[in-house]
Amino acid sequence: MSSLSIYLLTFALLLQTIYGESLSPLKHFCSSSDNFTTNDSYEPNLRQLWGNLYFQTPPEGFGFGSVGQDPYIAYGLALCRGDLEAADCRTCLNEATAEIRKRCPYNKGAIIWYDHCLFKYNNTDFLGKIDDQNKFYMWDERNVSDPTIFNQKTRELLSLLAKDASATPKLYAAGELELEKSKKLYGMAQCTRDISASDCSKCLDDIIGELPLCCDGKEGGRVVGGSCNIRYEIDPFVTA
Ligand SMILES: *[C@@H]1O[C@H](CO)[C@@H](O)[C@H](O)[C@H]1NC(C)=O
Ligand SMILES: *[C@@H]1O[C@H](CO)[C@@H](O)[C@H](O)[C@H]1NC(C)=O
Ligand SMILES: *[C@@H]1O[C@H](CO)[C@@H](O)[C@H](O)[C@H]1NC(C)=O
Ligand SMILES: *[C@@H]1O[C@H](CO)[C@@H](O)[C@H](O)[C@H]1NC(C)=O
Repeated sequence: MSSLSIYLLTFALLLQTIYGESLSPLKHFCSSSDNFTTNDSYEPNLRQLWGNLYFQTPPEGFGFGSVGQDPYIAYGLALCRGDLEAADCRTCLNEATAEIRKRCPYNKGAIIWYDHCLFKYNNTDFLGKIDDQNKFYMWDERNVSDPTIFNQKTRELLSLLAKDASATPKLYAAGELELEKSKKLYGMAQCTRDISASDCSKCLDDIIGELPLCCDGKEGGRVVGGSCNIRYEIDPFVTA
């Protein structure tokens, strides 16, 4: 094998692991300072919350709630991507719970994202408010040939999807747009369902505005937050 093809292979594998659909976490954050000790009653509340979310979430793709009493209340939510079947949602949450326990064993708050789900908890009541603390970007390294038009199309599609998403009870929308020469652009937009439709719309519009920070001219991109996320690709990625 020539060094060029080895390079290309490595590059492809890299793209796959960084970018492709995968069962490994995309990202996580542990709350930096506030830890619990195994003798306070936060931990049992947290465990019960995890259990509740694990059962509550898969049928509808979203669950939220709290367990316990002041000052040991644990608040949490779980969200699966809008196109997922209950079984795939459950698989993702199972993964998420196990992984976050390993990564943030004593933190009172944490958040973890996968391609298929989001899982978040804290000892402060974050439910019903737009989360603008927890956020990250992902992009495909490949550049498009005509960034100006492509960026316009991306905005157009995602803005339409943001509007659709905030007008449906599920706060989720996916769709596609014709590019030139039978090429297509695929996108999706989703919010957690603890926030209102108008906050969903605001949350999505705000992150669409952040696309230039990561993704302009890139063949794929995502802005992923604790309350909403957007994604676009030139290949299909959701089940219609
Ligand atoms: C909380 O736990 C993390 C990981 O074990 C540790 O690095 C950090 O120093 C702890 N913070 C406090 C305030 O104890
Ligand atoms: C809980 O354990 C920590 C050390 O792990 C200790 O400092 C603290 O006093 C204990 N609290 C109670 C209420 O027993
Ligand atoms: C948990 O709440 C604290 C206090 O509001 C905040 O600083 C922290 O970022 C939150 N953690 C997560 C993972 O959202
Ligand atoms: C895409 O464009 C950027 C900036 O022009 C460049 O640094 C990068 O190497 C390009 N990526 C690929 C995969 O060609």
